[in-house]
Amino acid sequence: MKITAVLLAAGQGTRMKSELPKVLHALCGRPMLWHVLNALQAATTEKPVVVVGHGAEEVRRYLADSAECVLQEPQLGTAHAAMQAEPLLRDKTDLVVVTYADMPLLRGETFRQLVETQHLNAGPLTLLTVVADDPRGFGRIVRKADGTVEAIVEEYVATPEQRAIKELNVGAYCFQADWLWDALHRIEKNPKKGEYYLTDIVEVAVKEDLPVQAVVHDDFIETIGINTRVHLSEAEAALRTRINREHMLNGVGMMDPASTYIDVGVRIGKDTTILPNTYLQGNTEIGEWNVIGPNTMIRDSRIGDRCKVLASVLEGAILEDDVDMGPFARLRKGAHLKSHVHMGNFGEVKDSTLHEGVKMGHFSYIGNATIGARTNIGAGTITANYDGEKKNPTEIGEDVFIGSDTMLVAPLKLGDGARTGAGAVVTKNVPDDTLVVGMPARAIRKVEKKPRKPNH
Ligand code: UD1
Ligand code: CA
Repeated sequence: MKITAVLLAAGQGTRMKSELPKVLHALCGRPMLWHVLNALQAATTEKPVVVVGHGAEEVRRYLADSAECVLQEPQLGTAHAAMQAEPLLRDKTDLVVVTYADMPLLRGETFRQLVETQHLNAGPLTLLTVVADDPRGFGRIVRKADGTVEAIVEEYVATPEQRAIKELNVGAYCFQADWLWDALHRIEKNPKKGEYYLTDIVEVAVKEDLPVQAVVHDDFIETIGINTRVHLSEAEAALRTRINREHMLNGVGMMDPASTYIDVGVRIGKDTTILPNTYLQGNTEIGEWNVIGPNTMIRDSRIGDRCKVLASVLEGAILEDDVDMGPFARLRKGAHLKSHVHMGNFGEVKDSTLHEGVKMGHFSYIGNATIGARTNIGAGTITANYDGEKKNPTEIGEDVFIGSDTMLVAPLKLGDGARTGAGAVVTKNVPDDTLVVGMPARAIRKVEKKPRKPNH
């Protein structure tokens, strides 16, 4: 059985007031479009077809080869949009799931239920409905006496009695493919709006005396559709709640889920605790028994087990086990902290490896460097890695002691067991087990004596 999704994403999304196509606006780290496609994947067997129109180039670029794209130009309504998939899909699939790209909270499970119901339906289509008190402008579902669906009535044409109906059209349909394509051609142009409405396909079936089934949903949240940025923020909050709940049920601790912002796809091991105001973004993986936050932002990074990350920012970094960092530490791309590294406040590490047990307590910048195991980096140490043209490497051995405020002028090598005095400016390589100091402060001139002021 071949099941193919057709996703309608050609509309303008005027109410977003944005240059970005509506379906590319993101929730929890991924565009709306991604969420719908991801859910559809659970219920379909073939590559999805996305109907593009407004912002077609950008949407196509985003989709790359994850979907087939067909262009709807001009946009003459949802039935007209679905019709654009016919040349690609006629005689190629058994069932077609049609849905709208502005419904990012629908779950794979819901689509699967829709498909299963259609599978058992003698008629040509099944649609998804929700029963809710707030109609939000959705089409109303009119039922026949036998319980099958008679029509979907759009709000602006509904009679007062129809407006009072609480069963609403969500905008997800499963069709018998060999019926769909011809039925689409039978839909007439809406006389008021001059568009072809997919919702009118119900009447096409009813006129042919074919039964239309509905899967009735009761989770109002799942059916939030996005027309404005207000809806987008509501949907994102709902999705965040869903993501956080799932992590907690898998053993992740959260003191305040409402202020814990985790992108879809982030992996976290059990017994890790995430403290408030923490952002875990992109392709991030976190192991077990860590304490992350509060006030921490981690993007595209990997963290082992038993680490502590307090009020810090990590991007493209790796932390092995038992690393302890922050508050106010920053790791940039290529920072690799091996196990038992300690990094205190106001440090920055970029493109560098700190081997086991390195200590870097206060106010340091380490860039393009390798630091050997157990080495101590004194407060205020800087790798002067940039000469105005290129980045130069610094290589520091094991068990080295770097005195406070040392300037390491790269390219530079310090051997195992080397030591530098406080304030040293090191411009030449240092052999193993050697102490270097300087430049010492020199007297320049006498300072004029001034009368001492009283203390207050
Ligand atoms: C639609 C339904 C309504 C349902 C609601 C639920 C119709 C006529 N109405 O209304 O019954 O309750 O969704 O969310 O279908 N699109 C195209 N090409 C077009 C027009 C639209 O691709 O020519 C796409 C849009 O990009 C959007 C989707 O179809 O993703 C739905 O269109 P929209 O205008 O948002 O429909 P609603 O007014 O929300
Ligand atoms: Ca909509």
